[in-house]
Amino acid sequence: MHFSLSQEQELVREMARKFAQQSIMPDIRERDAAHKSDRSMLDKMAEAGILGVSMPAKYSGSDTDYISLGIVCEELERADTSARVVMSVHSGLHCMTLLQWGTAEQKQRWLPNLAKGTKVGAFGLTEPNAGSDAINIKTTAKKDGASYILNGQKTWISLADYADQFLVIARLAGGVHAEGAGSTEDRGGKPANQMAAFIVDRNTPGFSSRALKGKLGVRAGNTGEIFFTDMRVDESCRLGDEGDGFKIAMSALDHGRYTVAAGAVGIIEGCLDASKEYAKSRIVGGEEIGKKQLVQQMIANMVQGREIGRLLYYKVGWMKNMGMRHTKEVSLAKWINCNNAFKAADDAIEIHGAYGYSDEFPVERHFRNSRGAMIYEGTREIHTLVQAEYEMGYRADRPLKRTLPTWPFGEGV
Ligand code: CAA
Repeated sequence: MHFSLSQEQELVREMARKFAQQSIMPDIRERDAAHKSDRSMLDKMAEAGILGVSMPAKYSGSDTDYISLGIVCEELERADTSARVVMSVHSGLHCMTLLQWGTAEQKQRWLPNLAKGTKVGAFGLTEPNAGSDAINIKTTAKKDGASYILNGQKTWISLADYADQFLVIARLAGGVHAEGAGSTEDRGGKPANQMAAFIVDRNTPGFSSRALKGKLGVRAGNTGEIFFTDMRVDESCRLGDEGDGFKIAMSALDHGRYTVAAGAVGIIEGCLDASKEYAKSRIVGGEEIGKKQLVQQMIANMVQGREIGRLLYYKVGWMKNMGMRHTKEVSLAKWINCNNAFKAADDAIEIHGAYGYSDEFPVERHFRNSRGAMIYEGTREIHTLVQAEYEMGYRADRPLKRTLPTWPFGEGV
């Protein structure tokens, strides 16, 4: 076991930090205030090669390891959450799930464009009446010859208006079909086994999207709803077998939660950046407030959150590299890091006093942004239950049909 980053990982950090400083920081205050999100950020990220990070070179990716993806997320979110969210939905939820579950043909068909950033991917699981209770989604996929007809609605979808393709989870109307036969074989039993996952192109007739307005945070990011009305999807776009849909959704969340956990460390860093600078410049009673012990307590708590947070997400990245199942560990990392990021942002406002309450300083943005991460990709309540269930022996992982390729990527990736 060793704890130092490789030279390649350090270079990735440097590249992502430079990108954030040059392409996100200069106008983020204005974009956030104006709720301005458009494709230009995606284009800049594609141009910098960021959208292909931790994807195999065979599919036009950077070939860097999975820890590098976490590092990119940390550096981007240090500037603003909206850029990290792009990585979460495109790289984590979409590309990595495709890398894990796709056939050789599907990976060759979609991954190169995704890694180059000429196409952007997103994820559709949540519905108006199925958030934490993901098992109760109502979107249906009905088999019709060599295709499926999808009907339903997904909500709280990041990049709903800009993504080119979506990984969509749907319930199989009529049950699971026997492979190769036209008849349906309703296996009954668990609803989790009655789902399928599809890669859906936004240009498919029957697809539409609508932006959600009035968000508390991530205002420079696009979030919306997507709708499917008698949308015909070829069966070659189905990821995994019929009945694998829920497992694919949960695998996707193992990847997405990793990026959120890493990004949360970036929020803590962003809060430290702002708080240290302010605490050194603000003089009270003849001394910098950074010398006051109660301020130091808050700075120390942020340092604690950053250091614990890195250890947690580096470990998950390492487990991904090794091909180890990490559902428990990523849930813990996401839960702890998001809680600590919110606390750091709260403390950062306290250090800034009334100035922290205005958008003159970035800490109020970090505060609003960090609140959302305690909800999306598993609420803190869900992660609390998951941890307790593992510990009590009520939850155990079973081997999956398809696992994420180990890193370094081999020929057969
Ligand atoms: N990978 C693969 N398969 C998994 C898995 C994983 N990580 N976790 C569970 N499964 C499998 C199980 O093995 C089980 O299959 P078998 O019975 O064949 O073994 C099946 O899935 C059902 O699992 P559970 O019995 O554990 O399901 P559950 O209903 O008890 O609990 C839950 C599931 C943990 C509560 C889950 O529903 C959950 O995580 N809910 C939160 C959903 C969530 O995070 N939503 C966020 C939406 S995405 C988003 O926010 C993105 C965005 O755009 C910002």
